[in-house]
Parts: sequence; C-alpha cells; structure tokens
Amino acid sequence: MEKAATTVFSLALVFMKFLIALGGGAANYTSSDEPALLAFKSHITYDPNHILATNWSTNTSFCHWLGVSCRRRGQNRVTSLDLSNMGLNGTIPPQIGNLSFLTYFNISYNHFNGHLPAELGRLHRLKVFTLHFNDFSGEIPTSIFNVSSIQWINFHNNSLSGSLPDDVCSHLPKLRLLWLSYNEFSGDVPSHWGECRELQYLYLSVNNFTGFIPCGIGNLTLLKHLYLSTNNLRGVIPPEMGNLHSLEALSLFSNSLASAIPSSLFNITSLQVLYLSNNQLFGSLPMDICSSDVHRLEILSLASNQLTGSIPQCIGNYTSLEFLDLHENKLSGKRQSSLAFTHFLTQYNSLPTQLEAPSIGTDLRKTLMGLKVLKIAILRIRVVVKDGFCVVDLIGVGGKLEAMVSRQQHAVGTRGRVQ
Ligand SMILES: *[C@@H]1O[C@H](CO)[C@@H](O)[C@H](O)[C@H]1NC(C)=O
Ligand SMILES: *[C@@H]1O[C@H](CO)[C@@H](O)[C@H](O)[C@H]1NC(C)=O
Ligand SMILES: *[C@@H]1O[C@H](CO)[C@@H](O)[C@H](O)[C@H]1NC(C)=O
Ligand SMILES: *[C@@H]1O[C@H](CO)[C@@H](O)[C@H](O)[C@H]1NC(C)=O
Ligand SMILES: *[C@@H]1O[C@H](CO)[C@@H](O)[C@H](O)[C@H]1NC(C)=O
Ligand SMILES: *[C@@H]1O[C@H](CO)[C@@H](O)[C@H](O)[C@H]1NC(C)=O
Ligand SMILES: *[C@@H]1O[C@H](CO)[C@@H](O)[C@H](O)[C@H]1NC(C)=O
Ligand SMILES: *[C@@H]1O[C@H](CO)[C@@H](O)[C@H](O)[C@H]1NC(C)=O
Ligand SMILES: *[C@@H]1O[C@H](CO)[C@@H](O)[C@H](O)[C@H]1NC(C)=O
Ligand SMILES: *[C@@H]1O[C@H](CO)[C@@H](O)[C@H](O)[C@H]1NC(C)=O
Ligand SMILES: *[C@@H]1O[C@H](CO)[C@@H](O)[C@H](O)[C@H]1NC(C)=O
Ligand SMILES: *[C@@H]1O[C@H](CO)[C@@H](O)[C@H](O)[C@H]1NC(C)=O
Repeated sequence: MEKAATTVFSLALVFMKFLIALGGGAANYTSSDEPALLAFKSHITYDPNHILATNWSTNTSFCHWLGVSCRRRGQNRVTSLDLSNMGLNGTIPPQIGNLSFLTYFNISYNHFNGHLPAELGRLHRLKVFTLHFNDFSGEIPTSIFNVSSIQWINFHNNSLSGSLPDDVCSHLPKLRLLWLSYNEFSGDVPSHWGECRELQYLYLSVNNFTGFIPCGIGNLTLLKHLYLSTNNLRGVIPPEMGNLHSLEALSLFSNSLASAIPSSLFNITSLQVLYLSNNQLFGSLPMDICSSDVHRLEILSLASNQLTGSIPQCIGNYTSLEFLDLHENKLSGKRQSSLAFTHFLTQYNSLPTQLEAPSIGTDLRKTLMGLKVLKIAILRIRVVVKDGFCVVDLIGVGGKLEAMVSRQQHAVGTRGRVQ
C-alpha cells in the first residue's frame, strides 16, 4: 500500500518535473528576444553605415547590440530599442510584437516605410513610441490605442492616413504627448478626450482633418500646447477652450473657422502664443483683452480674417509681445485707431522686433526705431502705395530695419533702403 503510494508519488514528481521542464523550455523559447531582433534586422533593406550588418552579430548577446538595451535583472529582455537617425530603410515586421518588455522604441529620422503592424499593440509595457521623420503610410492600427502604458506617441512627418478613432485616448490614461502633424490624416478630430487626463501636448497640424473643433478638448486641463493649424476645420472656436488653464500655445491658423474670438481665451493667463490667422473669424477683438491678464503673450497673430473694430489700446500693456500680426482684416483704419496704435507702441519699453499692422500713420516714424522687420498689408491712412510697394514716409525709419515686406510678401527694402 505504502509502496504503491510512493510509486504514485514518484510518478507524479516525474510528471511535475516534466511539466516544469516543458514550461521552462517554453519560457526560454518565448523569452528570447533574439529572433524578433533578427527579424527586424532582416527587414532593413538599406543600412548605409553597415551598422546592423556588422554590429548585430549573433556572436555577441543581443543585449550588447547597438541601440539595444536590456533589463538588468533576470533573463535578458529588451527594454529599449533606439535606432534613430541611422539612415535606415526598411519596414517593421510583425515580430516586433514579441518584444514584450519593450518600454522605449525610437526609430525617428530614418526612411522606414510600409504599414505599422497591428502586433505593435502587443507591446503592453511601451511608454515611448516615436518614429517621426520616416515614410510610413497607411492607417495607425487601432491596437496601438490600446497600449495603456503609453505616454509619448510621436509620428509626425510621415505619410500616415485614415481617421483616428473617436475615443482615441480612452485606453491611454498616461498619454502626455500625441504628435501627428505633417501626415495625411482625415476625418473628424476625435471628440472624446476626457480619459486623457495627462495630455500636455497635442499636435494635429498639417493634415486633412475636417469637421469642428470638439469642445471636449476643453476637458484637457493639463494641456500646454494645442496645434490644429492647417487642416479643414470649420465652425466655431469653442468657448470651452478657456478652461485650458495651463495652455501656453494655441495654434488654429489656416482652417475655415468662422466665429468670433471667444473672450474666454483671454482668461488663460499662461498663454504665450496665439495663432488664429487665415480663418474667417469675425467680430471685434474681445474687450476682455483689456480686462484680462494674458500679459505673457509673446505672439499674437490674427491676420487674414474678417475682424472689425479698432485695436484696443490696452494691447500696449502686453509688454511681452514680440510679434503682432493683424494684417488683412477689416480693422478700422481710422485716425483714432492709428492713434491707439501709436499709444500702444509708445507703451513699450522695448519695441517689438516684428510688427504687422493693418494701418500705420506716419506719426509712427519716431516710435519704430527698434523695428527689425516691418510687414505691412494695406496702409489706409496717409500712405503712398506705388507700384504695389509701400513707400510711405517710413523710409529711413530706424537704423535697425533689415527688411520690409509688402502684402505680396516681396522684400522691398533692406537696411532702411526701401525699393
Ligand atoms: C533556460 O534558461 C535557463 C536559464 O536562463 C538555462 O539554465 C536553461 O538551460 C535554459 N533551457 C533551455 C532548454 O534552453
Ligand atoms: C556594437 O556596438 C556596441 C555599442 O557601440 C559596442 O559596445 C559593441 O562592442 C559592438 N559590437 C560589435 C560586435 O561590434
Ligand atoms: C562569429 O564568430 C565566428 C568564430 O568566432 C567568426 O568566424 C565569424 O566571422 C563571426 N561572425 C561575425 C558576424 O562576426
Ligand atoms: C528619438 O531620437 C531622436 C534622434 O536621436 C531624438 O532627437 C529624440 O529626442 C528621441 N525621442 C525621445 C522621445 O527620446
Ligand atoms: C530609401 O527609402 C526612400 C523612401 O522610401 C527611397 O526613396 C529610397 O530610394 C530608398 N533608398 C534605398 C537605398 O533603398
Ligand atoms: C513572434 O511573432 C510572430 C508574429 O507576430 C509569431 O508568429 C511568432 O510565433 C512569435 N514568436 C515567438 C517566439 O514568440
Ligand atoms: C519631413 O521629413 C522629410 C525627410 O524625411 C524632410 O525632408 C522634410 O523637410 C520634413 N518636413 C517637415 C515639414 O518637417
Ligand atoms: C483593446 O482592448 C480591449 C480589451 O482589452 C479588447 O477587447 C479590444 O479588442 C482591443 N482592441 C484592439 C483594437 O486591439
Ligand atoms: C482633404 O479632404 C477633402 C474633403 O474630404 C478632400 O476634398 C481633399 O481632396 C483632401 N485633400 C487632401 C490633400 O487629401
Ligand atoms: C468633460 O468631462 C466631464 C467629466 O468627465 C464630462 O461629464 C463632460 O461631458 C466632458 N465634457 C465634454 C465637452 O466632453
Ligand atoms: C474668466 O475667469 C473668471 C474667473 O475664473 C470667470 O469668472 C469669468 O467668467 C471668465 N470669463 C470668461 C469669458 O470665460
Ligand atoms: C495698462 O495697465 C495699467 C496698470 O496695470 C492700467 O492702469 C492702464 O489702464 C492699462 N492701460 C490700458 C490701455 O488698458
């Protein structure tokens, strides 16, 4: 009886050992990242400096290969892959999804092309994923938006296309940066952003996004940069934008936005850069511009809209302003506004180095001494426009004037020598 039990026990033990061996073997097999790296290497079609060809040799542990870093403890697992800026051509093979310990993946500044494999969505420890300045095309596999560890997605300047899922960040609670500018994305800007509580940098410029600016963006209270310029966005600038209390830069230029400028924007005291030019914005400049406290503003560009009314004098209190561009609007060119403008200029301790204005009176000559670049659109008062060039009294303005640019963007004078 006892012997039988012992036999059964021994058999069980053997079986367990077998299981362990099997499990161990399987673990060893799946845990080696070498096959995935070799697959990656085999998909490189051009390696101008023969870096991978010579360095990625199976004679040495892959943890010592150039650009590869492994976790220090336990089995060798790849945690970081940095092959940026090596002139490489090639595609990303699906085996990349086997590097399940990868947290950092940077292949920016190369010529990688083809589609992004859906297997990237299996990298469930990935934090930094950057492949900007490559030639990737096709859609972003939606599986990537499921990698909840991800903090940094920089795909800018590729040829990626398709639309983004409406709940793009519902599974990305740690996302801090999403940079998709200079691609060929289309469709609506996603409307649900509530889950992206950590998002600080959102760049979607120079794509083909259509539709409205979703007011849900107003929920991204940590947002510092919001760039949506050069798309096909229409409708209004949502007043909810005023909720973005951390915003430092807002760029919406070159869209088809048609609304008044919400006064709530001037409630954002952190704002330093505001580009709204080249839209169909109308109405007058909000008077909140005067009651508010956006005195950190360095760039205010409202050019090429349909703004009316006069320029509020209080702009003269914006002492950080370095670039002001108001040209091509219907802002009044009355003497009164010119005076307001003079007032504005004289309020400066140091004058802005660049100035674009819809109307400038000759009495500004004295105040323009610090100006380096003068861009004038339509001068409505006491201005001579000769052969399309502005030849006003401004000739010889200040010793610092280096360039004068007409509405047609012709440089018509340098170093004070106009024409
Ligand atoms: C599995 O890995 C361990 C240590 O990492 C090693 O001792 C063992 O020989 C490996 N087994 C196989 C089957 O490669
Ligand atoms: C590959 O590059 C790494 C980092 O520069 C270096 O430490 C290693 O010795 C190189 N290996 C070979 C085989 O050239
Ligand atoms: C690997 O090592 C073998 C023998 O040490 C050598 O003959 C071979 O050239 C090496 N391969 C590479 C790619 O360095
Ligand atoms: C990726 O690599 C590029 C080029 O080396 C570098 O400029 C960039 O800072 C890296 N990105 C991240 C997030 O580390
Ligand atoms: C590398 O890729 C670029 C863009 O995909 C292509 O124009 C170029 O011909 C490729 N170069 C080589 C050597 O394969
Ligand atoms: C690696 O990934 C490929 C493709 O995703 C898969 O077919 C293969 O089974 C994986 N290999 C290992 C060792 O996990
Ligand atoms: C995009 O990248 C290409 C090289 O891949 C570069 O020539 C081009 O200037 C970049 N465009 C922008 C807008 O950065
Ligand atoms: C994302 O994850 C959820 C749950 O984890 C899963 O049901 C879904 O299929 C995943 N989507 C993609 C595109 O991988
Ligand atoms: C952008 O989208 C519009 C409307 O969907 C389309 O007519 C246009 O051809 C697209 N432009 C580009 C450059 O893809
Ligand atoms: C902002 O978030 C709150 C709470 O998460 C939600 O109720 C509200 O609908 C969101 N607003 C928008 C405009 O999405
Ligand atoms: C600006 O902020 C103040 C205080 O936070 C608030 O009372 C006011 O309504 C806001 N104005 C606009 C136009 O959003
Ligand atoms: C500029 O600010 C001062 C004090 O902060 C204030 O008294 C003055 O009225 C402001 N000027 C304008 C034109 O708003």
